[in-house]
Amino acid sequence: MNDLKEEIKSRLQVEDVVGQYIELKRAGRNLKGRSPWGVDKTPSFMVSPEKGIWHDFSANKGGDIFTFVMEVEGISFKEALEKLAAQAGVDITKYKGGDAEVTKQKNRAKEALALATKYYQACLVRSREVCEYVFYKRNLNRQTVAEFKIGYSPKSGRALLEVLKKRGFKESELDAAGLLNRFHTDLFKDRMMVPFIDTSGNIIGFTARVIDGGEPKYLNTPETLLFKKSRFIFGLFNAKEAIRRSGFVVIVEGNMDVISSHQAGVKEAVATSGTAMTDQHLKILSKLTSDIRLAYDGDEAGVKATERAIMMAGDLGISLTVISNYHGAKDPDELIQKDPKLWQEAVNERVPAVEWLLKKYEEGLNLRLTADKKKYSDLALNLLSFVKDEVEYADYESKIAKKLGVDAEVLREKGERLSKKLEQAASHRYLKKPKTEFKSDTIKKLENSLLALKIFGGITRTEIPLPVPEDETKLSELELVFNTDHEHIKNPDYENEAAELMKRYDAIVNKTKVQELNDKLKELDEDSDAYEDTLRQILDLQNTLK
Ligand code: UTP
Ligand code: MN
Repeated sequence: MNDLKEEIKSRLQVEDVVGQYIELKRAGRNLKGRSPWGVDKTPSFMVSPEKGIWHDFSANKGGDIFTFVMEVEGISFKEALEKLAAQAGVDITKYKGGDAEVTKQKNRAKEALALATKYYQACLVRSREVCEYVFYKRNLNRQTVAEFKIGYSPKSGRALLEVLKKRGFKESELDAAGLLNRFHTDLFKDRMMVPFIDTSGNIIGFTARVIDGGEPKYLNTPETLLFKKSRFIFGLFNAKEAIRRSGFVVIVEGNMDVISSHQAGVKEAVATSGTAMTDQHLKILSKLTSDIRLAYDGDEAGVKATERAIMMAGDLGISLTVISNYHGAKDPDELIQKDPKLWQEAVNERVPAVEWLLKKYEEGLNLRLTADKKKYSDLALNLLSFVKDEVEYADYESKIAKKLGVDAEVLREKGERLSKKLEQAASHRYLKKPKTEFKSDTIKKLENSLLALKIFGGITRTEIPLPVPEDETKLSELELVFNTDHEHIKNPDYENEAAELMKRYDAIVNKTKVQELNDKLKELDEDSDAYEDTLRQILDLQNTLK
């Protein structure tokens, strides 16, 4: 990547690249123009052809040709690279070294995993005991076992390792595929092997179940170049067609539930593997269908998982439903073992997830008691805050009010108060990050000038507590700032200037801190220790300002 960057830089002049956007005039050794961000009154944009860099004194930013094109076009580094490579006449494919290496590694891992799957499949038919588990205990038929490429990893800790080594795989390659443990032997031993198949049909990992008792029940491939658990959806490769055809998807908790469900003719079933559902999972599914049905257990974990899903779905504009009639079975697999028909029916008897949760909240509460009424309304209104549709919201609101025997108006007031609180918390969260990262133009400008003095002015008396950047481009840019700051001054006194600037810098930084603390203070409870603490900090800072 660096070679490519240097090659492009050596072929393009910074003044030519910038000159396509701004009119530049010579000013001594540099060139000058108006800021493309339109904030200067007099030309404040400098280009140094010698250094190959630019600096905008009004917007306080600068860099090389790549950062310029990124900033001015609002594009990514990669896009800027492609654009400038084309201008420079550099063939970018010759430099794709980095990417090509990763692609190669991924392909090797895929090959290793495909061979491992074949090997595990062969091992399954050879073991009577395991066949019994798979075909009789789990009740899977030959077609299902073939469709999901189920296999068995032998007890020996080196069986797969030896097979793949003979096929020319290096240990490092098997490790990258997630097939080895930390002792560099087989990760999977004496387990039923179920491959993770991505939506293109590649094997990217395994989930492996113990045959008899043992811990852990399931062992999964760790995160690798290929397997990312926050994105992977188990069974989607086999379910895609059915989901498209019938227009719905069923999310179950376990991988075995998926397999059983497919065998029972409900081929719309998928699962998130060994992890809770993420918004990435939901996003992927919501592109296929908006009819997403959850088939989680009815226990506390199932309630929590459903709540999480609802929060994420609200943001994506999807409404979820819940399948809950398992006829006493603990999960879909168990229900299917009872009777596949019951599962086929169950996936069509669904209730809106919000309704299902409201019922769950009611369990264990006595809604004739005032304290329980409060609890229920807290839970219910918190849930409703994720319902984005106004009509849906109003409908639930009136149902809840009826249930509690209170006026809808009372509930609305409480709801509004709650949502305001949430909004504040949310906007607070949202603002927090930029706030700390945000620096006013004045501060940035002072920092640049101070750093320039520190590096190029030989300052010894005043301490300038700013780290010297290591980046060559930034250093050149600061040199440009230094020269420009002092070009019209005869016999500049750098020491004196540094002391003056530091005073201004400290004052403005403190002021900003006071402002931030004041903002924080407004959100704190006046009786809390944090309030007292913050107040003291503000007073201290104000004292040093004097
Ligand atoms: P369950 O314990 O409910 O397993 O875990 P299950 O799917 O019913 O499996 P069987 O029927 O006993 O074979 C649900 C899911 O949680 C993950 C797996 O993805 C499993 O499918 N899990 C569970 C693990 O990753 N590791 C474990 O040790 C247990
Ligand atoms: Mn199960």
